[in-house]
Amino acid sequence: MERGRFITLEGGEGAGKSTQLRRLAAVLAARGIDVVATREPGGSPGAEEIRGLLVSGEPGRWDPMTELLLHLAARRDHLLRKVRPALDAGRWVLSDRFADSSVAYQGYGHGLGRDLVVRMHELAIGDFRPDLTVVLDLPVATGMARARGRGAGEDRYERMGTDFHERLRAGFLDLAAREPGRCAVVDADAPADEVEARIRAVVEARLGAAADKRFVPPR
Ligand code: TMP
Repeated sequence: MERGRFITLEGGEGAGKSTQLRRLAAVLAARGIDVVATREPGGSPGAEEIRGLLVSGEPGRWDPMTELLLHLAARRDHLLRKVRPALDAGRWVLSDRFADSSVAYQGYGHGLGRDLVVRMHELAIGDFRPDLTVVLDLPVATGMARARGRGAGEDRYERMGTDFHERLRAGFLDLAAREPGRCAVVDADAPADEVEARIRAVVEARLGAAADKRFVPPR
């Protein structure tokens, strides 16, 4: 059984990750690939419970290290219970956020620093990495305006201020530049159809051969 592929979508608030994840999942499924769509923080029952602690309440509710530890606890549970078993079973896993969000939000946004967050990840999840990470990039003001339209109750990070969001945007671009083999930056300041086409082109270029190998023509 060939291991599946792990694709993550990353970016700041209102970048369109959830919409694009659904669209990409449909595109891959139409190619005969068995796809699992998931998200962080969350994705497994335990991690979804931890999510509630992270996305609601006052912005200053946790100190940055405590917040990182909660994200890592959720990530390890998600990885062990859902992501790895699916990959081992040959399924492709698409996740709305993963470890790069901790590097950007807790490392750059909250100022813990990239190196510390990367080291903590090595302890929590070893050297596990996505096969492909698509960073959806757009101006902070555009993303925040889009995000404001969404449901209340999960807005703890949205309320963290423009400087915080500018830092994490720069953080995503920096981490993508450091790992160009794994990461691709897609300009998300465009209509959803256009962004979808850009993401499809990236996935085709990076993982197209693997996708073709997986394709089983219907009988
Ligand atoms: P979502 O709105 O994309 O579902 O994500 C919930 C929030 O959690 C989002 O504002 C970003 C934040 N977050 C972190 O700060 N660190 C992380 O490691 C992850 C996965 C998310």
